[in-house]
Order: sequence, then C-alpha cells, then structure tokens
Amino acid sequence: MYEDIAETLLTKEQIQKKVQELGRIVSEEYKGLNPLCICVLKGAVPFMADLIREMTIPIEVDFMAVSSYGNSTTSSGVVRIMKDLETSIEGRHVLIVEDIIDSGLTLSYLVELLKGRKAASVKIITMLDKPERRKVDLRPDYSGFTIPDAFVVGYGLDYAEKYRNLPYIGILKKEVYTR
Ligand code: PRP
Ligand code: MN
Ligand code: MG
Repeated sequence: MYEDIAETLLTKEQIQKKVQELGRIVSEEYKGLNPLCICVLKGAVPFMADLIREMTIPIEVDFMAVSSYGNSTTSSGVVRIMKDLETSIEGRHVLIVEDIIDSGLTLSYLVELLKGRKAASVKIITMLDKPERRKVDLRPDYSGFTIPDAFVVGYGLDYAEKYRNLPYIGILKKEVYTR
C-alpha cells in the first residue's frame, strides 16, 4: 500500500490538529442545536469518527451512501442513493460530513435532497476541498484544507476501494492509476 504513494500531502499530525480545530468551531456554532451529523459513506468514515469525538456538545449521527465515482478516477455525474437516512430530518440542524469536495455534484444533489425534507438548516463540513475541479457552484461551510488537483488517497479516500485505511493523505503514483 505505502509503496504506491508518491508523496505525503498531509500528515497524520496535520490532520489531527485540523480536526481538533474544526471540532471546536462546530461545537461552538451548534451549541444547543443538537445537530445531526450525516456521514457520507464511505469516504467520510475516518473524518466523521474523529470529528464527532472533538465535538463537546450533544449530537446525533446518521449515515448515507451516495456514490458517483464507482471504480473510476473521475466523477460520472450520476448520483445514486445506496443507503438512506434512518432519521427524520424535519426541523433538524443537519451537518453533512464529507472527506472531499471535487466536482461538487455529490453534495449539490445531497444538499437539495435534504433541504427538500424540511431540515431547519443544512451545512457542509469537508476535510478536503478541491475548488479547481468544481462543476457546480458549491462551497463548504467548514473546510479543513484546500488542495491542488492531484489524485489523493488515504484517511478515507480511495482509489478503486483501496487506501482508505492509510492514516495520512498521500498523492497516488501515476503508474498506479494508469496501468
Ligand atoms: C467521493 C468522495 C466524495 C465525492 C466527491 O466519493 O468521497 O463523496 O466523491 O466528488 P464530487 O464532488 O465530484 O461529487 P465516492 O463517490 O468515490 O464514494 P466513496 O466515498 O464511497 O469513495
Ligand atoms: Mn464519498
Ligand atoms: Mg471513492
């Protein structure tokens, strides 16, 4: 696994520090609101798990799976709901937790869907933002790092379902996805 990584983009320590910072910010902003943190499976699992443990207020969690990538390096633009929420979000303050925003297609679809279910508010927190690749006008409310247009894996991010368990965020060697 490690031999497929060209370079480290963000270390474990950088990630941890950023998650602590984000946890403090959202704990402050959602005080008294009992937010529902929605993890977008599967990429957001490590970030969600770390973020909620940095939140010092009562929260609830739920999970959704919407996939647009499949085993490809680029977004097809087709968003499929693989798993829906178990919670009714009417009147709830929803915080969508994502690992990365790329084209923005996944989240623009999700935000509209959840707003349509009469949530009191719908906001986005993402670990990584790749604004260069945006196809729709979508901005995260909270973001960890803005990154260049490189193929990144680790800390939940996969290539063909691999590398999600890498504890840091690395840039994949070109030969790995061109072979
Ligand atoms: C990836 C990533 C985001 C989304 C971002 O998920 O985790 O959810 O794509 O791309 P976009 O902004 O262009 O829509 P993916 O569909 O690969 O599923 P996964 O989380 O299970 O890897
Ligand atoms: Mn994802
Ligand atoms: Mg993926």
